[in-house]
Amino acid sequence: MSQAPAHARSSQTVTLTEDATGKSWKLKVLEGTMGPKVIDTRGLYGETGYFTYDPGFTSTGSCDSQITFIDGDKGILLHRGYAIEELAAKSSFLETAYLLQYGELPNRAQMEKFTHNITHHTMVNEQMARFYSGFRRDAHPMAVMVGVVGALSAFYHDSIDIGDPQQREVASHRLIAKMPTLAAMAYKYAHGQPFMYPQNHLGYAGNFLHMTFAVPCEPYKVKPVLARAMDRIFILHADHEQNASTSTVRLAGSSGANPFACIASGIASLWGPAHGGANEAVLQMLQEIGHKDRIPEVIEKAKDKDSPFRLMGFGHRVYKNFDPRAKIMRQTCHEVLGELGVNDPLLEIAMELERIALQDEYFIERKLYPNVDFYSGIILKAMGFPTSMFTVLFALARTAGWIAHWHEMLSEGQKIGRPRQLYTGPVTRPYPALDARSESVP
Ligand code: SDX
Repeated sequence: MSQAPAHARSSQTVTLTEDATGKSWKLKVLEGTMGPKVIDTRGLYGETGYFTYDPGFTSTGSCDSQITFIDGDKGILLHRGYAIEELAAKSSFLETAYLLQYGELPNRAQMEKFTHNITHHTMVNEQMARFYSGFRRDAHPMAVMVGVVGALSAFYHDSIDIGDPQQREVASHRLIAKMPTLAAMAYKYAHGQPFMYPQNHLGYAGNFLHMTFAVPCEPYKVKPVLARAMDRIFILHADHEQNASTSTVRLAGSSGANPFACIASGIASLWGPAHGGANEAVLQMLQEIGHKDRIPEVIEKAKDKDSPFRLMGFGHRVYKNFDPRAKIMRQTCHEVLGELGVNDPLLEIAMELERIALQDEYFIERKLYPNVDFYSGIILKAMGFPTSMFTVLFALARTAGWIAHWHEMLSEGQKIGRPRQLYTGPVTRPYPALDARSESVP
């Protein structure tokens, strides 16, 4: 049987018995530091001739990881052992990105060096600007991001050799540094405004706000409350275990694809409304609701099995309690709207929707709570971002997590990811001559 992963213990076994024949097999149980144990099925097919079957991976561990831990029942989220509540309150996005990638919080000298490296990678090759003019002005900015981030591999050839740890590190720094620049350029292009260059004297979040909202004609002063809120929102979106987009990055990386292509695949996966695209969908839903009086009707529609409509920003594959990020996001929402003196009726609708849903048997029974996307859109709208940019901001922040998982997967020398299937198609059959084929083809 395969060796247990370095940071796991294997002390117990489980026995699988084939009732029809009475044959049985012992399978190793692997135990990590926290969370559910796993049954090691790596040798299952070779020993038993059976595959496991778990579309959507509801009960499947795809890897072992030391980066993020989630307890869905208790609503706990840890990054390298530190609670998201502490990181959101005391850390910064760059410090969290460092923690995710290197495993420990940086000391002062390490933080200064990391910040200097990231700051001095924020510019993009000037020719990248010409990519944007190939898009329609009304292209969705996520379509632009998938394109331009993948195109980074056409420019930075000195950091695509994944076998070289130094090149892997440079590629990681380039991606964390350049995502805000590329995202701001996507916003500017959509608005017909000139691109703004990064300003090295600004912090990570403030620099992004400057590149997005400043214009060449007048000075732009970054509001500290907005820079702090932006940085906290980036922290809350930085990583989240083996979610769909992170699993996409790991799978792409397992083939040896270059880091820029892998992150582009993560952006594509995050775009879906069931995943990172939900923040945009939440705001559209709240705008369609329009008034608190319509909430009961919307709740009924969300419960209707015959309707594809779901309450966007509600529910989660892992959290069966409050998403801890949603609580922090709701608090940030009140802070930012209060500081800006914004009285957005959508916030009232969102809070009333949350109140009613959390009292409804359907949501209680299915343990459906607000997730990270439920409040984020209201804050981002108050900060001046159009709805179409919401998922771009999610991708910007999640790049830190994607990069950390990509590094971890490569450093552990994972084999190429290649799932199998339960085949339910036609059995072997002879090729029929054209005129011998039946009339009714599907
Ligand atoms: C993110 O994985 C991550 O960690 C993701 C993420 C991250 O940081 O990377 O946290 C970010 O993607 C958050 C989720 C954003 N998506 C949404 O808000 C879209 C709305 N939510 C749903 O589509 C849904 O809740 C999912 C996709 C998030 C989770 O779906 P699951 O785990 O596959 O659950 P399911 O579809 O099996 O639902 C279980 C039941 C079903 O009812 P029954 O068939 O049992 O009767 O709950 C119902 C569902 O119909 N249900 C909902 C609902 N979500 C689930 N009903 C109404 N509204 C909803 N939002």
